Amino acid sequence: MKHTIAALATAAVVMAGAGMGWAQAADWKDGGPAYIYVNPVKKSPFHMPYDDTLKCIDCHKWNGADAYTAATMTLIKSAKGRLSQQEIKKAILETLKGTGDYREMYVMATSFKDEPLASCLEFILDPETLTLVASSEKQTEKLFHIAANGRASLVYVKHRDDMKYFMNPIGVQISGKAVQLKYGDPGFDQAAELCLQTAINHMPEEMQKKMSREVMLAGIQKNQLITKVIPERIVITSGDFIKRGLHRKQIWMAQ
Ligand code: HEC
Repeated sequence: MKHTIAALATAAVVMAGAGMGWAQAADWKDGGPAYIYVNPVKKSPFHMPYDDTLKCIDCHKWNGADAYTAATMTLIKSAKGRLSQQEIKKAILETLKGTGDYREMYVMATSFKDEPLASCLEFILDPETLTLVASSEKQTEKLFHIAANGRASLVYVKHRDDMKYFMNPIGVQISGKAVQLKYGDPGFDQAAELCLQTAINHMPEEMQKKMSREVMLAGIQKNQLITKVIPERIVITSGDFIKRGLHRKQIWMAQ
């Protein structure tokens, strides 16, 4: 009897799943499915500020465009609430400076034959160009992804001990092009030096004593590749922006 009930319940769940389907099973049209869009009837008191000249429909519409229909990109339509490119860059640098050497931990998303992969890795940011470099062991999955497809997206998240992410989130999303440098390629030596020096900054002393700089560098040259990410768009989210009455996300675009 018990078995029958369990079997019936399972069958009901399976059937309901098949009947309803997921929302995303809807046909993809230009601009994506209508259910993704906000129906701009009434906004909440927490809605971020925008220029008086803008109408709801300027941002909340089905316009048949590409990813630029996304909520984040509508923010560039409003001057109100937006920081200058220079101030955004300053906020990005302040967030990603690490202990001062601009080495921080990121999650990098890549894709191979439409199969996504998110990997953790430490990058070092160039404060001038906002280009990032990381050295990592050869033959790992992410490196095959990048070899096949140079599109990459990185995320940095400031993890909080108090879990107050709602009012005080800090995060940076980077989209751009990833290139691979192997030993002998132009730019490899400089990037390898930077990766090594910043790694040494955070190595315990005993470890530094055990391995000479030369040995470590030779290891990078032989067994590692440099992943260089050239950013095209950087979106920074900060609780500080919210407090200042600005858009919670600010967008930096490469020239
Ligand atoms: C400059 C572009 C822009 C304009 C103009 C705009 N919105 Fe929004 N709206 C956004 C974005 C971006 C979000 C997503 C908010 C986020 O990511 O925090 C949003 C979110 C919302 C939401 C869901 C969250 C909330 O705050 O309620 C509603 C509802 C909404 N908008 C309604 C409206 C209405 C109604 C108007 C006109 C009176 C309007 N919006 C004008 C960009 C805009």
